[in-house]
Amino acid sequence: MSKTVLLAGGAGYIGSHTAIELLNKDFDVVIADCHYNSSPIVYERLEEITGQKIKHYDIDVADMQAMRQVFEENKIEAVIDFAGYKAVGESVQKPLMYYENNLNTTFSLLHLMKEYNVANIIFSSSATVYGMENQSPLVESMRLGPCTNPYGWTKLMNEQILMDEAKSNTNLSVVLLRYFNPIGAHASGRIGEDPKGIPNNLMPYIAQVASGKLQQLSVFGDDYDTHDGTGVRDYIHVVDLAKAHVLAVDYAAGRKGSDVFNIGTGVGYSVLDMVKAFEKVNSLTIPYKIAPRRAGDIATCYADSTKAKELLGWEAEKNLEDMCRDTWNWQKGNPEGYR
Ligand code: WQD
Repeated sequence: MSKTVLLAGGAGYIGSHTAIELLNKDFDVVIADCHYNSSPIVYERLEEITGQKIKHYDIDVADMQAMRQVFEENKIEAVIDFAGYKAVGESVQKPLMYYENNLNTTFSLLHLMKEYNVANIIFSSSATVYGMENQSPLVESMRLGPCTNPYGWTKLMNEQILMDEAKSNTNLSVVLLRYFNPIGAHASGRIGEDPKGIPNNLMPYIAQVASGKLQQLSVFGDDYDTHDGTGVRDYIHVVDLAKAHVLAVDYAAGRKGSDVFNIGTGVGYSVLDMVKAFEKVNSLTIPYKIAPRRAGDIATCYADSTKAKELLGWEAEKNLEDMCRDTWNWQKGNPEGYR
């Protein structure tokens, strides 16, 4: 009998890719998602890729009464909490919406897990919890914060809530995954990143310049203390990130308490490195201009993922060329995303 994993917010970018990797490892998958930042078209794409119909509930994860049906109807072994809103800029504009949703979704899941005796939760956290002062390579044991935006604070708060709950509820097993910069898409090109409106993040913006949807990339600052003056980040292929979740589900099942892992490649690339790689791999040109720095940005951020390698048995397998090729393959085939 396959173990069932509930993907809360699982119709989104990371969740949909994780669903495929779980199914590949013979888990059963159930998705609960209100589609605030995802499309129901994902379900038919997942069925197309995996040949399996995905059981899903169009529910707001923060609505505990509605979510009770999911726990009633499915014997859930583990929950993966992808249900946080994730746009940094939007979180600055709408802090209350971010605190309310990103904390209430986790509260809802924790209460129902306790009520239905579900022991394991994997939480989608972010390197943003390291704040502005820590120097890369970033290590899990570093002091955290202060965060530069409400989105980051919700991740830090949820980490603390989950760790404290795991101390008090001895049946609970919590794994926190700190994502670095997820990019790329499934090799099929049938699922991928589908940001609402103008993309905030670098790679989807580059992809829309490549497709002609946007005219020119603005490089936010070329006077940082980096090899070429532009911001350096640890970009990780979304499929590698998805595989980390599968290993985290197994790891959580074998223990109690909480643990935390950086999920990054450990290699930093600058904005101009990314532009050049994307142009080379896909034989095209990305027009850009140098623009002022973006508030809240740091010069350099990349992971030390030794702990994930040693304890999860995880390491990134895909390289920058894979990330650029798979991003473009998705963008070419879906210029308007899932719309
Ligand atoms: C990367 C680099 C920019 C856009 C954020 C969140 C993190 C996660 C990923 C949710 C930086 C530069 C960007 C552009 C540019 N969020 N850039 N022109 O800021 O590292 O991380 O997104 O999952 O939690 O903090 O990612 O892609 O926005 O920026 O020059 O149009 O690209 O300055 O150096 P970031 P990003």
